[in-house]
Amino acid sequence: MKKTIRDYDLNNKKVIIRVDFNVPIKDGVITDDNRIKESLETINYAINNNAKVILLSHLGRVKTEEDKVKNTLLPVSRRLSELLGKEVTFINKTRGIEVENIINNMNPKDVVLLENTRYEDLDGEKESKNDLELGKYWASLGDIYINDAFGTSHRSHASNVGIASILPNGIGFLIEKELANLSVIDNPERPFNVILGGSKVSDKIGVIKNLVLKADHILIGGGMAFTFLKAAGLPIGKSLLDADNIEFCKEMLEEYPDKIILPIDVVCAKEINDEVYRICFINDIKDDEMGLDIGSASVKVFKDILLDSKVVVWNGPVGMFEEEKYANGTKELCNILANLDATTIIGGGDTASAAINFGYQNSFTHISTGGGASLELLEGKELPGIKVIMDK
Ligand code: 3PG
Repeated sequence: MKKTIRDYDLNNKKVIIRVDFNVPIKDGVITDDNRIKESLETINYAINNNAKVILLSHLGRVKTEEDKVKNTLLPVSRRLSELLGKEVTFINKTRGIEVENIINNMNPKDVVLLENTRYEDLDGEKESKNDLELGKYWASLGDIYINDAFGTSHRSHASNVGIASILPNGIGFLIEKELANLSVIDNPERPFNVILGGSKVSDKIGVIKNLVLKADHILIGGGMAFTFLKAAGLPIGKSLLDADNIEFCKEMLEEYPDKIILPIDVVCAKEINDEVYRICFINDIKDDEMGLDIGSASVKVFKDILLDSKVVVWNGPVGMFEEEKYANGTKELCNILANLDATTIIGGGDTASAAINFGYQNSFTHISTGGGASLELLEGKELPGIKVIMDK
C-alpha cells in the first residue's frame, strides 16, 4: 500500500501537489475541464488541512518558443480558481527568485500554480528527462510531495519521479481512486469482458497479451479490427491496416478463437468525408471502401456477450466517433454499458472523451483520467510515478 496524503500532518506545510492539468484548450478556452475537476478533492483536502498548496502540472509538449505561448497554464489557473471558489496565484515561471519569494510568503490555505513544467524542456528536456538538478530545485520549494497526476504516472519526469525521490511523499485521492478501480482486472468477478478499439493494433498489443489471459471475451472494434479481419483472410479494402501486426493477430485468433470477437458488419464509405456510406457484412467490403464504424449486427453480437457481464473494461472507441455518421457503434456501446448491472471501467483518452461528450459522464463505475497511463496499467505494468511513492 502506498502512502497517501492522509498519512501526513499538512498543517502549515508547503505541500507540492503534482496534478495533471493537461486539458484540451482551443483559442484560450478549455474545452474539457474534467481533469481539473477530478483534482479538486485532493487540493481541497490540502486547503482544509491548512497546507500551503503549490501546484505543478505540464500542458502539452513544449519544443519551441511558440509552444510556450500555446501551452501556458494561465487559462487553467483561472478555471481552477472558479472551481475552488478562491484565488489561485499563477506564477508565470517554473523557477527563480519570484517563484521562491511568492512561495516563502504564502499563508496556510493559499494556492499557487507554477507555469507549465515542460517549459523546462526547451533547454535540454530537463523535465522530460528527469534532470536531477531540476527535481532537487522543485523539491527545495516544499516540505511534502503528493502525486495526484495519474495521467502522467507512466512518465518518469522531474516533476514526479524527480521530486518524489527527495521529499516525503504520497499519492492523492485521484490516484487512489484510479488504482482501486483499474485493479479490478487483477481478480475480476466473472464474466469479465473487455472491449478494445482505437486505430492501431500496435498500441494495444501489451493490453491484448495481458487481458486475453484474464478476460472471458475480448470484443474488438475500431480501426484495429481491420488488421484482425485481414488476418482472418477477409477483404478489408482501404480500411486501416497495421501490416506489421497481421502475424500477431493471426496468432491471437488461432490461439483464442472463442475469446476474440470481431465485428460481423461495418459502416463503410469510399472516403471519410463522403456523403454516401453503407453498412455491409465484413466479407463484402469493396476494394475502394474503408470501414469506419461497427455496424448494428456487430452491436447486437457485442450486446449479447456483454449482457451478463460482471465486469467490463473498455479502451478505445469502436468507430470514428468524431464524425456523427460513424459514432453510432461507440454511442450504442455507451448505452449498453450504462444499463448493465456490472462494474464498468472506461480507459481514458479518446474513450473517455467520447463517453463524456455523449452524455455518459456519470453512467459508469469509473472513467479514467489517464490515456497512456491507464493503458499501461491494463498491460500489467508498474507506473514509475507511482512506484517511486513510499510504501506505508
Ligand atoms: C496525457 O494526456 O496522456 C498525459 O497528460 C500525459 O501526456 P504526455 O503523453 O504528453 O506525456
